[in-house]
Amino acid sequence: MEQHNETRAVRIQTRKTGEKEHSTPLFLTSSFTYDSAEDMAAAFADDSLDVNIYSRFSNPTTDEFIEKIATLEGAEDGVATATGMAAVFGTFMTFLSKGDHIVSSSAVFGSTHTIITKYLSKWGIDYSYFSMNRPEEIEGLIRPNTKLLYVETPSNPGLDIIDLDYLSSICKRYNVLLVVDNCFATPAVQQPIRFGADLVIHSATKFIDGQGRVLGGVVVGRKELIKEIYLFIRNTGPSMSPFNAWVLSKSLETLYIRMDRHAQSALQIAQQLEGHPALRMVKYPFLPSHPQYETAKKMMRNGGGIVTFDLKGGIESGRKFLNALQWLSMTNNLGDSRTIASHPASTTHSKLSEAERQAVGITPGLVRLSVGLEHPDDILADILQALRQAE
Ligand SMILES: Cc1ncc(COP(=O)(O)O)c(C=O)c1O
Repeated sequence: MEQHNETRAVRIQTRKTGEKEHSTPLFLTSSFTYDSAEDMAAAFADDSLDVNIYSRFSNPTTDEFIEKIATLEGAEDGVATATGMAAVFGTFMTFLSKGDHIVSSSAVFGSTHTIITKYLSKWGIDYSYFSMNRPEEIEGLIRPNTKLLYVETPSNPGLDIIDLDYLSSICKRYNVLLVVDNCFATPAVQQPIRFGADLVIHSATKFIDGQGRVLGGVVVGRKELIKEIYLFIRNTGPSMSPFNAWVLSKSLETLYIRMDRHAQSALQIAQQLEGHPALRMVKYPFLPSHPQYETAKKMMRNGGGIVTFDLKGGIESGRKFLNALQWLSMTNNLGDSRTIASHPASTTHSKLSEAERQAVGITPGLVRLSVGLEHPDDILADILQALRQAE
């Protein structure tokens, strides 16, 4: 019987052990044993055997998490990693070689930007950045040695959105892999593979965990691509801990209802903040004022849980706003049940030059809100009283 993804997110589960446990078991073990020397030799001789050897290679709890997230994304297979950055780096290292070229949006997470600009060049891999607001320039950046096109949509922290149908048509024409970081949306909101993405990456640390407990990453896509990434991760070591996989797999059971609530509250807060006299702008994918509102409506089921706004008073107002918050959390993480406010210009992006920040849409007064699961009226009340003090 064909089931909905909401049901699969709850019901995909490791086969029951002899204990007949209801909740999924946790296989917290580094290695696995064999009945005979011949079985052990066979496990090592043939990579394609479905046998667990060592938890850096595979583990039943990690496999459960991978199967769930791959199913929700509409992908054939996946590989889980220790962090989101291990997923990004592992994907680059698997498909890029000396002399290759990558085309990427400039609006990417800070550590992804560091890998692209600082580390890839050490191995002779060149890059070109495009602006999310000028997609018409992308095709002109593709060279004969371009192997991969990388994008975050919505982007962190600028909430820029790009049409994945359009990107995948370019990638198919030039035989380039389309890799999408879907961390801000999650598969409950957007499934990039439906729009032609080859690989989808997540920092599972964010909404997939949803409660700010563990780090994790995952890449999903076609079997033959995942096999290559899997071998890179298995041999170089940034594999997901089975404990983290257990936490993350349990979290996926509530992903859909959490994302619905995050998005409902985020929309309500964005609507009520829009037009506030202390703010230059409020940005949220499902506000009609968002520059890519139509594209957001086409690709996303709802607007997700992140809202940004720009304080007219700039960097000083940003600091004052954070200091005036009574109970919203001041931390750099996002995708938590607890609402989080951050001010990129004075914190996560303070090492960038003003020009670099401007290029990725980080204005001095930009505040990023990760809207949590508390009552939206309470969240709004703390924001409004802090705005009064930030002027
Ligand atoms: C969009 C995006 N991609 C990747 C990452 C990296 O994930 P992790 O911190 O799990 O390594 C983050 C983390 O904030 C992120 O926001």
